[in-house]
Amino acid sequence: MNRFSKNVDSITQSATLAINSQAKNIQNKGSRVLSFAAGEPKFSLFDNVKAAGIQAIKDNFAQYTPVSGIPELKKAICNKFKTENKILYSEDEIMVSNGGKQVLFNILFSLLNKNETVIIPKPYWVSYIEQVKLSGGTSVLAETDNFQIKADLIEDKINSKTKVIILNSPSNPTGSVIKKKELNKIADVVVENDLFIISDEVYEHFVYDNCKHYSIASLNSEIKEKTITVNAASKTYAMTGLRVGYSAAPIEITNLMNNLQSHTTSGVCSIAQKMALSALTESQDLVRLNRDIFQKQRNYMVKTLNKIGLPCVKPEGAFYAFPSIQKSKLKSLEFCKKLLEEQRVAVVPGVAFGSDNHIRLSFGEKTEDMKEGLDRMEKFMRCLT
Ligand SMILES: Cc1ncc(COP(=O)(O)O)c(C=O)c1O
Repeated sequence: MNRFSKNVDSITQSATLAINSQAKNIQNKGSRVLSFAAGEPKFSLFDNVKAAGIQAIKDNFAQYTPVSGIPELKKAICNKFKTENKILYSEDEIMVSNGGKQVLFNILFSLLNKNETVIIPKPYWVSYIEQVKLSGGTSVLAETDNFQIKADLIEDKINSKTKVIILNSPSNPTGSVIKKKELNKIADVVVENDLFIISDEVYEHFVYDNCKHYSIASLNSEIKEKTITVNAASKTYAMTGLRVGYSAAPIEITNLMNNLQSHTTSGVCSIAQKMALSALTESQDLVRLNRDIFQKQRNYMVKTLNKIGLPCVKPEGAFYAFPSIQKSKLKSLEFCKKLLEEQRVAVVPGVAFGSDNHIRLSFGEKTEDMKEGLDRMEKFMRCLT
């Protein structure tokens, strides 16, 4: 008999969280660490969101909520999908969960059986692979073209075991955004092969220059029936710790997820749901303002990385740069360890995203810290090469 669950024992710790805790250890010993490792914007919580939380506490809004979310939040989510994404969902197709992460887990756990496979374009977000494993399925990685997700590269991987494709646009870690023409081709492949698509859109509000985000479910009614659209308040409203994510999917899938969540976590924290309601229904001006700040920070970071020997494809969205470290001749884990030890700068090894020749840096940090961190990286690269 195995002492512990074989299933859970096969899971590796999230690299992002691991590097953050290593950096915190160094910091606790008194050194100032500059971190580009976190996957979150460092903006303050919006005032209206704070006020909604305080009001909910004053109102004793502390009882269990419906498992799938409070009705007024689900209504606001439907309205968001209608106005921002041009998709019509009804409230019973909406499910509110503890962050995008639980949404994704609910979906994969509800869809997968043993030996069924999920196609994931590479580089990928770390948790997809582990969540597929936990759900009993197997991940099949699809190549990308200069980080762009392509329908034909996905199609190459389809066989009789394929059940699901995960799309993440804008992408963590590469920042690539799928263009509408390509999205249409992917939709055709999904419908032709009778697959499901999970469309992870948690970075949708962070797109730069003239780039536009499209939701695959908005393309036509056939693909909408095959799609589970995933989103969260976390990144858009700088409320990662409040844990509010949501999905929209055909009702039979939503019902499965509802049953699953009813026996795991129940409904999301009541106060956090009221805060998400305020975030979604009040002014979106700050979202746009924050996006503009990120665009400037992206421009500065990409220019600097290219200058110091870490060539970088310009991210079209999200808030990550994913430069190549090939010039350093180090593997990504070794690069990150050395950089942390020698210059007290934390970045995430690309191996965690399926690419050992890259590292991931967030430009969601405070501007002053970003400049100092990049100066330290320049010194590091000078010593290496
Ligand atoms: C691509 C992607 N999807 C989903 C999530 C989950 O976000 P959260 O659970 O914080 O809402 C993240 C967080 O880093 C992410 O990068």
